[in-house]
Amino acid sequence: MKIAIIGTGYVGLTSGVCFASKGHSVKCIDVIEEKVDLINSGKSPIFEEGMDELLTDVLGKGLLKATLDAKNAINEAEVVFLCVGTPSSDDGKINLDYIKSAAKTISENLNNHKVIVVKSTVVPGTTINVVKPILEESGKSFGICMNPEFLKEGSAIKDFLNGDRIVLGVDSKNTEEIMRNVYTNFPQEIFITNPTTAEMIKYASNSLLATKISFANEIGNVCKKLGIDSYDVMDGVGLDKRLSRSFLNSGAGFGGSCFPKDVKALLHKGLEVGEPMTLLKSVLKVNDEQPLRLIELLKKHINPEGKNIGILGLAFKKGTDDIREAPSLIIIDELLKLKANIFAFDPKAMEHIKKLYPNINLMNNAQEVVDNVDVVMIVTDWDDFKNPELYSGKIVIDGRRIKTNAEVYEGICW
Ligand code: UDX
Repeated sequence: MKIAIIGTGYVGLTSGVCFASKGHSVKCIDVIEEKVDLINSGKSPIFEEGMDELLTDVLGKGLLKATLDAKNAINEAEVVFLCVGTPSSDDGKINLDYIKSAAKTISENLNNHKVIVVKSTVVPGTTINVVKPILEESGKSFGICMNPEFLKEGSAIKDFLNGDRIVLGVDSKNTEEIMRNVYTNFPQEIFITNPTTAEMIKYASNSLLATKISFANEIGNVCKKLGIDSYDVMDGVGLDKRLSRSFLNSGAGFGGSCFPKDVKALLHKGLEVGEPMTLLKSVLKVNDEQPLRLIELLKKHINPEGKNIGILGLAFKKGTDDIREAPSLIIIDELLKLKANIFAFDPKAMEHIKKLYPNINLMNNAQEVVDNVDVVMIVTDWDDFKNPELYSGKIVIDGRRIKTNAEVYEGICW
């Protein structure tokens, strides 16, 4: 099938490359020329396991092309995906500016019947009440679908091709049929519903996963005080199939481009319709405070003022260069307030951190950090940090449960 995708961020590019790998002919539209050129040269603008290889493969087969020419790509397509960003405003409310402008671009270029698919994460009601009316301005016939993504950064391609389910919120049987053709040859179970329910499925999924993490952190914080290992506790809890062990790892808290933003957006929507949203408020509160617990543990052992403090791990999790909402940022800000000298390393996120904090000492590897500091704080569980000998003779404050031979070892929830 001929597919056009607006937006070449994480979701757009992963979707494009994966659809092309299944034999569809894909045009990825973006407004940034450098990004388009980079993609067409076989280089992914984002770091993602396996992306460059798959991208090169589908480019070679002529199944994918990035383009600035939205009109042509939309005109040719049978299905158009909206994969633009939906950032949070300062108060947590979702910002739909990119969605509206992408919908307008489609509306202005609709030439024959197509299915328009919202893949961006949007609050319930957006597809029907915001996107659809803009498309209707075209006066042309179209079908509409909301198809949330469930990709994890670092395993986005695997999740896209082999995830647990595909949710299709469709407006008609005809749209359903076209969308089933898009996902022919995908092994996942397909769940059919309406667009607004599909939007809520995405928010409910992410909010429940975030809730599991904050729950594990709250239990973990009590465990710490009682001398109990919260990982052992969750290993025991997770044996109950109703609960499952996944997303119960306590630590420095959740970050990234989805959980914090999506929980805030759902919270905001709930408040807007008069619900108190007691649980999700607490989920965010636990998470905001969690990285600061590492600083409290640090202060138990040393006054950070004027001291050399190491941070291992700056990305919000291992396997990505993404630092959005990373716990490391809260820790760096707090250490700077306390006038510590920071020495930091991350295998992938250094460039992004350098732009935000040009004045902290960014080292070439974990060993260089350790050699320069009195105390090491572990904030992301990269494999590079898993050599216990690395920490010999040091004080270690661990937010990610790495085994060390440290002189003094303090785990956040164990
Ligand atoms: C998440 C969802 O998993 C995915 O389905 C959705 O489409 C996008 O948001 P992602 O943000 O890539 O994916 O990362 P994920 O692996 O889910 O981790 C999110 C955060 O939670 C990370 O900061 C991670 O360190 C933290 N986490 C995860 C924990 O602290 N404990 C856990 O047990 C699991």
